[in-house]
Amino acid sequence: MAFRSRIIGTGSHLPDQVVTNAQLSEKIDTTDEWIVERTGIRERRIAREGETTSALAFQAAENALDAAGITAQDIDFVVVATTTPDNTFPSTATKVQAMLGMDHGAAFDIQAVCSGFIYAVAVADNFIRAGQAKNILVIGAEVFSRIIDWEDRTTCVLFGDGAGAVVLQAVEVEEDAKVGILSTHLHSDGKLRDLLYVDGGPGTNQKVGHVRMLGRELFRHAVNNLASVVGEALEANDLTQDDIDWLVPHQANKRILDGTARKLGMPADRVIITVDRHANTSAASVPLALDEAVRDGRIKEGDLVLMEAMGGGLTWGAALVRW
Ligand code: ACO
Repeated sequence: MAFRSRIIGTGSHLPDQVVTNAQLSEKIDTTDEWIVERTGIRERRIAREGETTSALAFQAAENALDAAGITAQDIDFVVVATTTPDNTFPSTATKVQAMLGMDHGAAFDIQAVCSGFIYAVAVADNFIRAGQAKNILVIGAEVFSRIIDWEDRTTCVLFGDGAGAVVLQAVEVEEDAKVGILSTHLHSDGKLRDLLYVDGGPGTNQKVGHVRMLGRELFRHAVNNLASVVGEALEANDLTQDDIDWLVPHQANKRILDGTARKLGMPADRVIITVDRHANTSAASVPLALDEAVRDGRIKEGDLVLMEAMGGGLTWGAALVRW
């Protein structure tokens, strides 16, 4: 017998403030037409003053726990993927743990920028496979708007704020059973760190810093790395792209989504897309898209779901799930 992780509930939360492309074009030299054509983004949610990553994460967690039909008292670990923690320390996860009224278990953050949620799912899945946890809350949450240079039109139009969460539960199954999370695949290449980084931060730099990006280079790496890690996940499970019911990609840019789907030969109607309304919410984008597709009934029990992401580092990864 062996332990596997099943996703028993999903949840999400977005700030109520919508910022459209037209509103951005009043402040910087851009147009709705340019942004839609190059990125597919039409609007994004932006946190209000005082609205923190932990606050968004907590709401998403509550919604995921409700959907799972369990309470925070049943949770063993809280794992938060974020690049925009409330503070340098303590971790945002420990804040969420306290907000959930937990005085047991363990909580920690994971930092892999836009791939953070996939990394967090992989870590949680391995705790469950090792028999060290029964229920794990995995959250991707960001207030990216706080590290954006709002005068840099090449980056500020691309990002948004939000949070998504899932509850993983251990099930004991036959060794070769194909249930729940089938496999996870992580990669990074630190030589490419200068393609996307923050020029400061709460570490040794003593200033908050802003996102800096080489967009064209990133675009090229994104399509190649994502198609490659999706292939790796399928091959590891003796499956092909025809077996995938739903691709839930990191929502960076509609052209990256289309390019990856085309490279994989996936029809567009099997790709979950939220980038038009959420923009790039970094670690929150995959769980936000996942929650939408679960709640509107597209993702159903038995479906094969492939989640993938790439982000600063560079980091990239995929998780293949039998729902
Ligand atoms: N509005 C109007 N014009 C703009 C804007 C804007 N917001 N931003 C840039 N431009 C201009 C540039 O200044 C440039 O003008 P120039 O030719 O006079 O110099 C022109 O548009 C073309 O700029 P490029 O950067 O070459 O445009 P490109 O077609 O590469 O599109 C984009 C830029 C959308 C950023 C694209 O490179 C991209 O999507 N890259 C991936 C970036 C990404 O998704 N990063 C997220 C993190 S990584 C990840 O999550 C996978």
